[in-house]
Amino acid sequence: MRKKIVAGNWKMNMTFSEAEELLALIASELENKDNLPCEVIACPPSVYLEMATDFAEESNFLIGAQNVSQFEKGAYTGEISAPMLQSIDVDYCIVGHSERRKYFGESDEMLAGKVDKLLDFNIIPIFCCGEQLEDRKNENYFDVVRSQLKNGIFHLNSNEFSNVVVAYEPVWAIGTGKTASPQQAQEMHRFIRNLIADEYGEKTSGGTTILYGGSCNAGNAAELFSQKDVDGGLIGGASLKAGEFLKIVNSF
Ligand code: PGA
Repeated sequence: MRKKIVAGNWKMNMTFSEAEELLALIASELENKDNLPCEVIACPPSVYLEMATDFAEESNFLIGAQNVSQFEKGAYTGEISAPMLQSIDVDYCIVGHSERRKYFGESDEMLAGKVDKLLDFNIIPIFCCGEQLEDRKNENYFDVVRSQLKNGIFHLNSNEFSNVVVAYEPVWAIGTGKTASPQQAQEMHRFIRNLIADEYGEKTSGGTTILYGGSCNAGNAAELFSQKDVDGGLIGGASLKAGEFLKIVNSF
């Protein structure tokens, strides 16, 4: 179902006590708020997920992991599985973030496997796609995003696909302070929605949540979120301060 979402991707930041403090602030701000403008998700590092789900249960937000294994269980030292995330009530999981693709060699094939595992265990994948700066300069950014979606999620049947959230994150905008213009974001979100329509039909396409990510902050969120095909944001740096994150939540 298409919804408005603001999700905070904390990446590899925060000590335990800092994480606890940030979660407590978010929890107390969102507590007793039944008519929030969007669904709110926090994606802390995996060691804090259980603490995070405890905070979330007492408040009005949900918890996402930043990564998951494509394997279900067994001899995969260091990995965290979808059933583990499910067993501590994690609702969402980011998949295919450009930092995972770049620094940890995650291939489209691995990402497709991760998406499958998450869906097997009722966790909603937030599937990231987005082009590099060169792709934009060479004007092949549509091809890059098309191929990421085709290889990562278009193998799903339409029932499965209806449980996926897509996040468009141009790599040149991530952590750089150079956000995509609202027009650039809308153009790509429209393109993604059209691709989904070609693959799964208008109804599924119209029901898909597509988030924008890349230097989204309290100053530019409202304009980005007002674009027709932008359903919210995946927020990195600006999700680490409760005040700024909550301003973004209220940007619809
Ligand atoms: P940023 O990161 O908001 O710090 O640019 C977004 C992301 O990588 O999800």
